[in-house]
Amino acid sequence: MTPHQPSNTPYSSGLLGNDAASEADRLASIQRSVDAFTTGILDGLPLDTSWNCLELGAGAGSVAYWLAGRCPEGRVVAVDLDTRHLDAGRAANLEVQEADITRGDYAPGRFDLIHARYLFCHLQERDDMIAQAARWLSPGGWLVIEEPYHLPAETSPFPLVRRILDAYQRTYREHGADMTWARALPSLLARSALTEVAFAANPGCMGGLDKDRWLPLISQAAPALLADGLVTEADLAGFAALLKDPAFLDIPQITLSAWGRRPER
Ligand SMILES: C[S@@+](CC[C@H](N)C(=O)[O-])C[C@H]1O[C@@H](n2cnc3c(N)ncnc32)[C@H](O)[C@@H]1O
Repeated sequence: MTPHQPSNTPYSSGLLGNDAASEADRLASIQRSVDAFTTGILDGLPLDTSWNCLELGAGAGSVAYWLAGRCPEGRVVAVDLDTRHLDAGRAANLEVQEADITRGDYAPGRFDLIHARYLFCHLQERDDMIAQAARWLSPGGWLVIEEPYHLPAETSPFPLVRRILDAYQRTYREHGADMTWARALPSLLARSALTEVAFAANPGCMGGLDKDRWLPLISQAAPALLADGLVTEADLAGFAALLKDPAFLDIPQITLSAWGRRPER
């Protein structure tokens, strides 16, 4: 894939990704809370040490590094719009590419495994990109896509969380993200001629044992939320305090993961 200008997503508009320090915090918090679920799904596939893998929107790279360890005789390509958070020297069989996946292409039939997490919800071309990624699979190859499904903000038992999540979801929507698209994943995989389609869900945790997960997410979006007048500084301070309350626990979203296999012939 070759470098080029990104399309209009929360990443290109500046809502996400322009501030390297806060993006590093956000990516680290995602990895801490979801990697065990993701690697559990990948471990359930018939992973072979010789597989060629593609990690789309690799972020800070934890899944790409994990795959490089599991496929030492194969190769892992980790692609992202912004590769500042990726370490190409982490494994000899790892290749880091800086590219917009909606503006480039790979040879059809090239990868035994393609994985993406929390990426497609940001892409305007999300349905077409599923079909595109399915074409990049080798015969017998697997496509695994994991995306957030945000629960309705107004169903939170906490009035402050209702306000913060409503603002967060509204701002993401205005920047082109779709935080409920994940529900379509199984049908999109099946429509892309993949077989053995299956799916699993992982409820996200706000507060409690995962009290550090949501502060980086809300903090990074905070300038946009404040600028739009959707929340106040007092709301944000109240939210940070709420996360420290041992009695605070909520489920803001669910990660829906779906996978399918390109037929051998
Ligand atoms: C929410 S982060 C998730 C990172 C990683 N997949 C994870 O779950 O830990 C989304 C990542 O997708 C990348 N991204 C967004 N749009 C992209 C595009 N069009 N092409 C390539 N990468 C993209 C962002 O730069 C960011 O690193």
